[in-house]
Amino acid sequence: MATIQENPLVEGLERLPVHPTTLVIFGATGDLAHRKLLPAVYNLAHEGALPERFNLVGVARREMDDDAFRATARDSIRQYSRTRPDESVLGALLERVRYVRGSFDDAGVYRRLGALASELDEEAGIPFNRVFYLATAPTFFETIAELLGAHGLDAREDAEVRIVVEKPFGRDLASARQLNEALLSVFEERQIYRIDHYLGKETVQNLLVMRFANGIFEPLWNRGYVDYVEITAAEDIGIGSRAGYYDRTGALRDIVQNHLLQLLTLLCMEPPVSFSADEVRSEKVKVLRAIRPPSPDEVPEIAVRAQYGPGVAEGREVPGYLDEEGVAPGSGTETYVALRLEVENWRWAGVPVYLRAGKRLARKVTEIAVTLKPVPHLAFQQSGSLGVQPNQLVLTVQPNEGVSLSLVAKIPGARMRVRPVSMDFLYGTSFLSQSPEAYERLILDTMRGDATLFARADEVEAAWSLVDPILEAWSRTAGPLPTYEAGSSGPAEADRLLLGGARWRQL
Ligand code: BG6
Repeated sequence: MATIQENPLVEGLERLPVHPTTLVIFGATGDLAHRKLLPAVYNLAHEGALPERFNLVGVARREMDDDAFRATARDSIRQYSRTRPDESVLGALLERVRYVRGSFDDAGVYRRLGALASELDEEAGIPFNRVFYLATAPTFFETIAELLGAHGLDAREDAEVRIVVEKPFGRDLASARQLNEALLSVFEERQIYRIDHYLGKETVQNLLVMRFANGIFEPLWNRGYVDYVEITAAEDIGIGSRAGYYDRTGALRDIVQNHLLQLLTLLCMEPPVSFSADEVRSEKVKVLRAIRPPSPDEVPEIAVRAQYGPGVAEGREVPGYLDEEGVAPGSGTETYVALRLEVENWRWAGVPVYLRAGKRLARKVTEIAVTLKPVPHLAFQQSGSLGVQPNQLVLTVQPNEGVSLSLVAKIPGARMRVRPVSMDFLYGTSFLSQSPEAYERLILDTMRGDATLFARADEVEAAWSLVDPILEAWSRTAGPLPTYEAGSSGPAEADRLLLGGARWRQL
């Protein structure tokens, strides 16, 4: 019998040739580096996907030397890697790790970094490509870009230089524009990689394959057949220790402006001419531009926000948002948001697109559900059908990644009775392998120079243009927000957004 390793269905990240690279992580001792980035780099090494010649440089304020940073990196990897670390792979990776200490606004850091990068090039006798990954607080993004430029680190003869910018990319349209301008005054657009980790998720990429590599869906993918679309990003966790960030941010900025609008664009975009970064991103921008931003007066009709109260979640009693440590007394920050949007173009006009996201909901699930129009006449109805519903195609992004199509089927027996059944494709069953983490794919893409899964400047700005009027309208209304019980399906108010026979899927 074939073992899992020998099974031809099992494939990890492909071993594509990648140019020798020096990856520099700013904020190397922070939470993102600790939980996601360092483990992702290890997993790339584990899969043999890293370039053969590779250096990792951590930059942070904490007082440490190379060895101390290697020890913290080893701990992060042991704690968070999705594969159990192989000591020889880990050891070899850590030998390539260096550390530069200092604060991000100190010119000395860039001088030392430049000297170290040149030393690594000379030692190997080749110019390494350089990838600067900004995993710091957003207040440093502009400063770091500017100082990289001022020290001549924005370009390198015979090698590529790229900059990766984490979220949040601005907190409204004006600040996103300002950040774009600051980055573009030093780097060219093709060097800038704006991360949205949802795009690195396997199922999100599979959405494109489902749509554009199968003939069955595309003829239905329009206003003639689709009744409505629903995109959900529900989480059971609360805000944990992130009050400092979250209370200034809220669910609309944290999840909708980036992750949910990205899913929406992939679901609704026209087939690109090719899968090159610019063709795909140009099609995505067109979707965002086809959504009319609401006027402040329209906001209450299309948007609902709420805050979690106390309840039972993750199997225990949990406090309400206002009682979480670090949340401002009487805070008006939303932990739940639901929207009704419309993509006003030839394909989608008149099809409501519902988005919802929230913390402390009944369970963690991210999914896209496309509900088709009901059949025009149901002849079986009188003979005892059980809840016949229109066909629904559900793409589950996480957990239990897969695609399921609900169909109506006959219940076995002499009578013509029918009920919904589902036809399922599950990643776990079909591929017998664990999907790579989003960050593995995205870090690899930055080293390969493929920006398809990263947001372009105009895309980020178009997304903020939709979110801005909602933020603005909300900022004008004071008073406590509606609440929902922690561990529930969210506030009842969200139902008022639904048109026709639409229903939120159960969480
Ligand atoms: C992040 C948000 O971008 O995405 C978090 O800042 C959220 O608040 C997280 O919890 C969800 O990501 P995932 O991959 O767990 O769905």
